Amino acid sequence: MHVILFGAPGVGKGTQAQLLQKEFNIPQISTGDMLRQAVAEGTPLGLQAKKLMDKGELVADDIMLGIIEDRITRSDCQKGFILDGFPRTIPQAEGLSALLKKHNMPDFTCIEIAVPDEVIVDRLLKRGRADDNEATIRHRLNVYQSQTAPVKEYYKQLGSFVSINGNKAIEDVYNEIKQILTTQVA
Ligand code: AP5
Ligand code: MG
Repeated sequence: MHVILFGAPGVGKGTQAQLLQKEFNIPQISTGDMLRQAVAEGTPLGLQAKKLMDKGELVADDIMLGIIEDRITRSDCQKGFILDGFPRTIPQAEGLSALLKKHNMPDFTCIEIAVPDEVIVDRLLKRGRADDNEATIRHRLNVYQSQTAPVKEYYKQLGSFVSINGNKAIEDVYNEIKQILTTQVA
């Protein structure tokens, strides 16, 4: 099972990916979590990424694709994986398609979790991560609109795109995603 959880910052991608990885026994691959780990470890990637993450800008596509290829070819990904926060540009989506082909992996189901911006801002201010101040949140939302939202069209054209309402209880969102994944081969 290969899943992309797609959506703006704060829609609940990470929350849902954590629940799904337990249910389906496949790993969550969160590029944001991986970058935050690199920041915490002070690696060269982490030092470079921190400046961009603090501003709400995206890390370069070639770096992200390198991280993803390394991750999805590990043994725990043989039964599938849940991508959370990747791809978030058209070049990342195209690069991912090329990687899937190269490594003989089946296609994805891309599930968008949709939540209104004001609900997102409220959720993220309450969460309080390093990049969760109002100015950075609003900038991340703008970056999402300009660079990430076009990725939806990419998956719609591939015929593997579903959108759900994420503005309801965590459990209700979860049940809807689970139903999508158990009623269609992903
Ligand atoms: P990333 O870590 O991916 O952050 P994000 O996209 O901004 O998304 P979040 O993690 O903030 O939100 P989420 O959708 O996971 O929601 P969550 O479950 O936490 O990326 C951070 C940065 O890293 C980027 O800005 C960029 O710089 C860089 N980066 C990462 N990936 C990259 C890539 N591919 N390319 C380039 N750069 C990249 O939920 C949010 C809050 O809401 C939580 O407190 C949660 O408890 C709560 N919540 C969740 N669901 C519900 C619900 N149904 N009802 C009420 N509250 C809820
Ligand atoms: Mg997240």
